[in-house]
Amino acid sequence: MYRSFVFILSLTLAGISQEEFKSAESCGDCHHDIYQQWQSSMHARSTTQKDPLFQGMYNLAIAETDGMLTGKCIVCHSPMATVFQENDREAIFNQDGITCQFCHGAAEIVAHHSARDMKIDLTTIYSDQPELENTAHPVAHRDYFFRSEFCLPCHAEMKNPVEIEVCSTGNEWREYLKQTGKNCQDCHLLKQDGKVSHLFPGSHQTDIPSGAVEMELAYNTDTQELMISLTNTGAGHAIPTGTPLRMVYLKITAFDSSEKIIWQNWRENPVTEDRGGVFMRLLGDNQGNAPVPPWKASQIIYEQRLLPGKLVNKRYLLPEQGVYEVEVKLIYRFAPKAVLDRLGITDPHLNSERILAQQSMRPGSEAGE
Ligand code: HEC
Ligand code: HEC
Ligand code: HEC
Ligand code: HEC
Ligand code: HEC
Repeated sequence: MYRSFVFILSLTLAGISQEEFKSAESCGDCHHDIYQQWQSSMHARSTTQKDPLFQGMYNLAIAETDGMLTGKCIVCHSPMATVFQENDREAIFNQDGITCQFCHGAAEIVAHHSARDMKIDLTTIYSDQPELENTAHPVAHRDYFFRSEFCLPCHAEMKNPVEIEVCSTGNEWREYLKQTGKNCQDCHLLKQDGKVSHLFPGSHQTDIPSGAVEMELAYNTDTQELMISLTNTGAGHAIPTGTPLRMVYLKITAFDSSEKIIWQNWRENPVTEDRGGVFMRLLGDNQGNAPVPPWKASQIIYEQRLLPGKLVNKRYLLPEQGVYEVEVKLIYRFAPKAVLDRLGITDPHLNSERILAQQSMRPGSEAGE
């Protein structure tokens, strides 16, 4: 303990020599499979070079704040910047994103506000495994690798300068923990052939079990109301969570018996036409413009998200005549189309609409479905 204290002290005073950096690729010489998994994870793609959405928002942040946010954004997305005290995005260690040596250099975790709260020691490899002296590198044991505590420095929370909550995954999860005792790793660190996978699947990857939201439909013939019941049964935090760019929304389409569309809950833009069917945290400025980026936000204009285990019911009045079948989709987007257009992002993956849940019913028939 005493030794690591002295080490951390000298780290803060002098910084660490950049020659201590070992690239993920070099770890991959021996840990081949893990390197391959990491490479296709968002942890490897968290940089401006590899993530067009981060690049776009980062460049906008710098342009709109006279560079004030340069060091802020890079902290968690290229955390080696904090170790070597160098924010240059082109530095070889910053291009490695959330790299092996950062996570496995975590000698101590002191708080959950940013990657800075992980105290990094580059001379040893820390993991859940027992102490080990081998020819390749020393391995020391820490007991937090399978607990949320290890992920929360980067994933827990973020507030903007006027204290608007931008990200709150940590608090959402703490509520969930009371009911289930599950940690991030229970869902995001999958096992393959007895070894942990480094894919860390989330919304960009398809490996996470889909069907996190359960949807049920019911129709009231007296009131002509369609009731949509949604429950987040699969995630240990809100859906959506993380960056406030994410949006989830209902698309409801009513057809007549010749499959012609006779009604929809929105045509062009769910946020302006049917806000009640939108699940997101919508940030706005003083004048009420929304969405605005986090650094311009002075209020949360609207917030509705699917909290773990909580039932949400939405009612829609269908046309009195002619509805033969109604189809309901719950759709996920990485960012509003207007934001992607503004940033000039045409990447098909980032522009895609993913269906989280889907159901159809025939209001006329007794059995529904
Ligand atoms: C020269 C080969 C080599 C290189 C390079 C290497 N390792 Fe290892 N590593 C090993 C060996 C051998 C073990 C002992 C356990 C085993 O056989 O898997 C080990 C164990 C580990 C463990 C503990 C898991 C366990 O099974 O005990 C972690 C974590 C780890 N290495 C991470 C890294 C990281 C991060 C890097 C790059 C900074 C790295 N290694 C570079 C060979 C290497
Ligand atoms: C050093 C900071 C840091 C740590 C520690 C960290 N992450 Fe991340 N993680 C990030 C960043 C930054 C991103 C977003 C990268 C991007 O999209 O550009 C991310 C993305 C993710 C995603 C989204 C992947 C997807 O497909 O959408 C998941 C899931 C995730 N991390 C889980 C974890 C878990 C579980 C842990 C703990 C075992 C963890 N992370 C530890 C910084 C971190
Ligand atoms: C406290 C750590 C932290 C800081 C500081 C941080 N981020 Fe992130 N960022 C994350 C994590 C964790 C994720 C993954 C959450 C998710 O997938 O929703 C993420 C995801 C993102 C995404 C989504 C990327 C994608 O491909 O889906 C964007 C864009 C982004 N951050 C931009 C920024 C900008 C711009 C800044 C600076 C103003 C910033 N971040 C500062 C931790 C951080
Ligand atoms: C986001 C943080 C994070 C990153 C980045 C990361 N790891 Fe890990 N790694 C973990 C966690 C969590 C575990 C599971 C607990 C443990 O075994 O320590 C783990 C486990 C391991 C193990 C033991 C595997 C087993 O099945 O027992 C090795 C070896 C390893 N990592 C190597 C690497 C290498 C090599 C890289 C880069 C290519 C890397 N890690 C990147 C968090 C990370
Ligand atoms: C009970 C399982 C479970 C637990 C526990 C859990 N997650 Fe998730 N997480 C999910 C599922 C499922 C999704 C994908 C939801 C969807 O379909 O978009 C997800 C998505 C994410 C994403 C991507 C969000 C986005 O839209 O960009 C991040 C980041 C993430 N989780 C981080 C964490 C962190 C950090 C923890 C711990 C504090 C955690 N998760 C705990 C199941 C879980």
